[in-house]
Amino acid sequence: MYNETDLDKINLDMEPPAGEPDRQYYFMAKCRRSLRELEERAGRSFTFSVQTFGCQMNARDSEKLAGILETVGYVRADSEEADLVLYNTCTVRENANNKVWGRLGYLNGSRKRNPYKKIVLCGCMMQEPEVIEKLKKSYPFVNLVFGTHNIYKFAELLSASFEQQGMLIDIWKDTDKIVEDLPVERKYFFKSGVNIMFGCNNFCSYCIVPYVRGRERSRKPEDILREIEQLAEDGVVEVMLLGQNVNSYGKNLKEPLTFAELLRKIEQIEKIKRIRFMTSHPKDLSDELIEVMGKSKKICKHLHLPLQSGSSRILKEMNRHYDKEKYLALVDKLRSAVPDLALTTDIIVGFPGETEEDFQETLDVVRRVGYESAFTFIYSRRTGTPAASMERQVPEAVVKDRFERLLKEVQETAAQKAGALTGATEPVLVEEVNEQDQTLVTGRLSNNFVVHLPGTGELVGRIVNVKLKECKGFYFYGEMVESFSEPAV
Ligand code: SAH
Ligand code: SF4
Ligand code: F3S
Repeated sequence: MYNETDLDKINLDMEPPAGEPDRQYYFMAKCRRSLRELEERAGRSFTFSVQTFGCQMNARDSEKLAGILETVGYVRADSEEADLVLYNTCTVRENANNKVWGRLGYLNGSRKRNPYKKIVLCGCMMQEPEVIEKLKKSYPFVNLVFGTHNIYKFAELLSASFEQQGMLIDIWKDTDKIVEDLPVERKYFFKSGVNIMFGCNNFCSYCIVPYVRGRERSRKPEDILREIEQLAEDGVVEVMLLGQNVNSYGKNLKEPLTFAELLRKIEQIEKIKRIRFMTSHPKDLSDELIEVMGKSKKICKHLHLPLQSGSSRILKEMNRHYDKEKYLALVDKLRSAVPDLALTTDIIVGFPGETEEDFQETLDVVRRVGYESAFTFIYSRRTGTPAASMERQVPEAVVKDRFERLLKEVQETAAQKAGALTGATEPVLVEEVNEQDQTLVTGRLSNNFVVHLPGTGELVGRIVNVKLKECKGFYFYGEMVESFSEPAV
């Protein structure tokens, strides 16, 4: 929307525009001026580092924050010694918070060595009042703190923080606003996350996300399609559509549109070869979506379908709106409509009141579904959620034991699933040169399994046919079979 020279043409003697995104570009220009002054004083250029905690939605937000910093004139340096360090935080489980507190201690040391250092905190954890209290009390050296709802105002807030001493805090309770067309600095040139919605309305009883991300808001289909078309022109072949519950996409739009209808439209963008999405809530997964997935040439053969628990009683306590039978029936339907579909999931162990029988139900579902992979979590008590005040929190030793047993079960099934593909030839999107072994490149199958194969950096971003020669449990070693083919998926 704006380019380098446009930003220098913005007249900073005028009042900032009221409308977005123009207002933010005005403040980017202002930040650029402040940064240049500082750089002159210091006699060097300034660097930034953005560290992301949490989910893919946070990762996408970080690309937008980095885009703004680069536009302003900071140079990327992935080190905590950078002149501006930004932490985009997560609070879904206690250990996500602990990581941030630990790293802040370290940053304080680095700040003492660099008088120009700026420390910025944003994201989900900042939406919690207790966190802000603790920051004010024990971490006064932090320069700027904002939350999830006003992330689009980063340039404006940064500009204000150049002009004042001490900690600048701006946290909003909620928003109904979606600002389009801000700069983005993508991590990969060939694939990209695309937000299709923000927030969550589900209030699963253990989960803090609805409190820190606010109510569900869908982006307009025309904005999503325009973004994907631009990405495709820019070299992107794979998009990952992002939302806490993509299956309820479009319900609150002025002109409602289903997620399946949105997928059909995205499929028509020629240069897009692969479409992924997450996360799908089982309660809202429609027959229409299953049909679209079955017919599609571009939607990847992978569905992340969080189970959380296999016990119908616990699922009710979790406020998930499905039971064990309904979940298994859904899996059957998916498997018969979409052959070769890989299923992955999220499971929580140790939810309050979970008994050994409940846990056995979870193991039973894991065995029956046969997940290609599963993220297993120990229940973490989140202040303010209904589950936090439930009685019968499960003792730590019991939870740990169940967690180990679950992990073993999950790993065994996953290895079996992967093993079955050995010998097949499959399209692989090559993503990077292997870090450990530079003679190899690493990519992904449509079903999301990782493959290492001999090759050079030239292959990165291309889809090539690979014979899967050896299965190593979670990943494969393979070999390219045709050097210049570009298969569809
Ligand atoms: N919206 C997605 C999940 C987002 S959070 C969905 O509903 O599927 C990612 C995962 O973190 C969840 O699926 C859940 O398994 C886990 N999680 C959320 N809150 C948790 C908590 N309090 N303790 C442990 N795990 C939790
Ligand atoms: Fe949390 Fe449930 Fe919303 Fe997922 S659907 S973000 S688990 S409340
Ligand atoms: Fe964490 Fe926020 Fe995502 S709490 S999981 S970063 S939505």
